[in-house]
Amino acid sequence: MASSAAGCVVIVGSGVIGRSWAMLFAGGGFQVKLYDIEQQQIRNALESIRKEMKLLEQAGALKGSLSAEEQLCLISGCPNIQEAVEGAMHIQECVPEDLELKKKIFAQLDSIVDDRVILSSSTSCLMPSKLFAGLVHVKQCIVAHPVNPPYYIPLVELVPHPETAPTTVDRTHALMKKIGQCPMRVQKEVAGFVLNRLQYAIISEAWRLVEEGIVSPSDLDLVMSEGLGMRYAFIGPLETMHLNAEGMLSYCDRYSEGMKHVLKTFGPIPEFSRATAEKVNQEPAPPRGPAPATPAEQRDSMNTTRGPELEPGLS
Ligand code: NAI
Repeated sequence: MASSAAGCVVIVGSGVIGRSWAMLFAGGGFQVKLYDIEQQQIRNALESIRKEMKLLEQAGALKGSLSAEEQLCLISGCPNIQEAVEGAMHIQECVPEDLELKKKIFAQLDSIVDDRVILSSSTSCLMPSKLFAGLVHVKQCIVAHPVNPPYYIPLVELVPHPETAPTTVDRTHALMKKIGQCPMRVQKEVAGFVLNRLQYAIISEAWRLVEEGIVSPSDLDLVMSEGLGMRYAFIGPLETMHLNAEGMLSYCDRYSEGMKHVLKTFGPIPEFSRATAEKVNQEPAPPRGPAPATPAEQRDSMNTTRGPELEPGLS
């Protein structure tokens, strides 16, 4: 269990992502204060966290060494941001993806925090240089981008502002490890960070292949769910290259010309036209289990039967 002397964690914004962070931090034994501009959202969050933790405990899938009841005792709501951040060691911002709103929140936090607390944003795609521009405590600021659903997908992308102190990155990295997540360091900010850049590269080529009539939408998805995805669930693309030959140098000697030949045939960025969207829409991926009524239900049923969802859209 985390020592209470370490200070508590504050979640600003108790929606989908804020709730998940609260559960993860409580699982790691941290005191968590949930703040939201909407009082009802805090009440909803506490209720849904209680339900979910109980279900997870029954299923033997609750994280951490504490019982659900012990973890629930660590989480409280706080309607006042100033009171919430008192004694905090880490503040995780989880308000909607709106640059001006987030800047306003960080400016407010900047004026009330001390020199030790970490100011962390869950943003999916806003650049730290924009988000934290001009803050007095910029050295303590970082993006810690989770992957939805964070309780099931451990990766967290850590993206610093150019002026973020290395100790801020190290402390956030250590904290993420402590709560059972898998942090990785993005050395310099870039649009889409790393996960979404890889995701969009795949979406882009998938779209072109379907648009050009080379493969049907459902067969395209099979290539990932029954092929490439199985491999990538265990090892990354660079490790795959390394293992597919006698090491990386040998892989490049053998295959780089062939790869470049294929890569040169890739088309431009797709327009994501209505016509192709309709074509894909008419042929949804084969459902596993009872037929869902909507794509959202299909996604949720896949979460429980096959594992967690990929991040939708820019998330
Ligand atoms: P959400 O819409 O579910 O929750 C946002 C919460 O912020 C709401 O409870 C709202 O009442 C609260 N809020 C709004 N203005 C506020 C203010 N001024 N002060 C305090 N609270 C305020 O949003 P969600 O999905 O949880 O996303 C939060 C952040 O996490 C976004 O930046 C998003 O890009 C990022 N993210 C989202 C993922 C997803 O798949 N949903 C995945 C990874 C990151």
